[in-house]
Amino acid sequence: MCGITGYVGHRNAVPLLLAGLEKLEYRGYDSSGIGIVASANAKIEISKAPGKIKALKDLLALSPLSPSTLGISHSRWATHGAPSKANAHPHFDCTQKILVVHNGIIENYEELKDRLMQKGHKFLSQTDTEVVAHLIEEHYQGDFLAAVQKALKELKGSFALGILCRDDPDTLIAARLGSPLIIGVGKNENFIASDVPAILDQTKKVIYLKDGEVAVLKSDSVAVYNLASKKVSVKVDTVKFSVESVQKQGFAHFMLKEMHEQPDVIAQILKARVCGDQVVLDGLGLSDAQLKKFNRIFIVACGTAYHAGLLGKYLMEKFAHVPVGVEAASEFRYREQLVDKKTLIIAISQSGETADTLAAVKECRAKGAKIIAICNVVGSSLTRESDGVLYTHAGPEIGVASTKAYTAQLTMLYLLALKLGNVHAVLSKAEQRFLIGELRKIPEHFREILKSKSLIAKIAKPYAHFGCFLFLGRNINYPSALEGALKLKEISYIPAEGYAAGEMKHGPIALIDEYRGVVCIAPQSDIYEKMISNMQEIRARKGKIIAIATAGDEGIKNHSTDVIYIPKTHELLTPLLAALPLQLLAYSVAVHLGCDVDQPRNLAKSVTVE
Ligand code: AGP
Repeated sequence: MCGITGYVGHRNAVPLLLAGLEKLEYRGYDSSGIGIVASANAKIEISKAPGKIKALKDLLALSPLSPSTLGISHSRWATHGAPSKANAHPHFDCTQKILVVHNGIIENYEELKDRLMQKGHKFLSQTDTEVVAHLIEEHYQGDFLAAVQKALKELKGSFALGILCRDDPDTLIAARLGSPLIIGVGKNENFIASDVPAILDQTKKVIYLKDGEVAVLKSDSVAVYNLASKKVSVKVDTVKFSVESVQKQGFAHFMLKEMHEQPDVIAQILKARVCGDQVVLDGLGLSDAQLKKFNRIFIVACGTAYHAGLLGKYLMEKFAHVPVGVEAASEFRYREQLVDKKTLIIAISQSGETADTLAAVKECRAKGAKIIAICNVVGSSLTRESDGVLYTHAGPEIGVASTKAYTAQLTMLYLLALKLGNVHAVLSKAEQRFLIGELRKIPEHFREILKSKSLIAKIAKPYAHFGCFLFLGRNINYPSALEGALKLKEISYIPAEGYAAGEMKHGPIALIDEYRGVVCIAPQSDIYEKMISNMQEIRARKGKIIAIATAGDEGIKNHSTDVIYIPKTHELLTPLLAALPLQLLAYSVAVHLGCDVDQPRNLAKSVTVE
């Protein structure tokens, strides 16, 4: 995905556009660019650079753009065409009258490009985006908005667009379909951005543009039109979170800050969602009677959210005895989904903009399923496709590797599973009361684990140069093993595989020797002895083991090279606690290797394209 900012107002556009773009750099950072309409002569000027936004800032310092109060900017995560100056946005049409920045994928760009080239249009890039500028040019006969509306009708795929036209030096046009775009409403100035953090220090008043809508921004007005080009009324929301919540506040990385926020995030969720011994899920959008009618649940998600869903399965089947399938959205969307009106879909997504998750949800909705979203971004696309939304309110998660969003998802899944257990009268009141009591201790347990972050960093150091890692867990900690492996590989680039410990004998044990790191998640549990057996098999083959174990378990030291302890808790809650040492382990290795922890190579915070 990419980052977009736009400005129209009374102030110099360039510093505002760059400041906003820097807050979106987590969305894509392989090249960036900016375009303005010069106030003196209404000429469009652009500046583009491969690499991070700093490269663009350095370029602008050397050759600044003219003063302007109207502009657009873009940071790119390449989908079509390598990261390069030519492929960086913004993109012109032939006349250099129209300028476009884009986030998303124009799926029919090749056929449009062929048609336009046959009409004599000349293209300078390999991107799908450039086609949009030439298509608007094709329709342009003096009416900027009409030309944009006609061009959009020909596009297939997803887009969030910022568009300028030299003949309208006071107008910024924005449009969205399937990719996020918000409008920031200021005093005699207006903004567009891919995400709220980009404009939060300028205004807290936002308009969440809906799919299919086109907005015309001037310094003192915002007009929004629907797909039928009819003007629609707009709702101006006020953003609840603060500017500070999107800054590092003294931490070395956003990821480190967000790991430290987890105790408060979990405490906040419990405070908002547990009243006495009752789970209260406002926003669920379904009554107890409706919940009881579902005979099948599918949890649909990607990446870390998928791992959270895997734990959700264990919990819901245990507490409610309802069959639960967990599906990677990118697979599920293309499978024959056996879904009908008696199916409940639980879609988990931090950003609410993941293309595969959105697509899978739309498929299921079309078949009559009810949709509940567990999501962290208010007003995101997924929340608008759902019958009910359980917001995690973890605050903006800027680090590309998900941490607080993951444990917030887990916490919400515990509560939803308890609710389902209650509705299906499987879980006794006493059991529910006990588990809620144990959940309430989790934030303090997290604070306890955070006190050992220096010890974890010390343990991690000698493992930083291992060739590959195996993460092993059983039962409810099998998802923990998958998530621990993902955390390590996505920020340190060390190959790491999460595996069900019982499956190790069926192949992966061939990997074991003194150069492999093996992380065994082995808290006190009914299958603890099974984990110890696995660890003995690994040690017999000289494997180096880091064990995640329950505080007080001295015996496990005989089967491990190193031990990281988590506080004692109910077996069912150990995945929530195990998440933090696994995050800290991955973080420590990546920092030791000098990796870019917050913006790992090739990744983006939310994958809004297929
Ligand atoms: C996790 O650390 C990654 N950032 C990635 O796997 C992420 O969880 C996945 O892309 C899903 O994103 P979402 O939760 O915003 O849908």
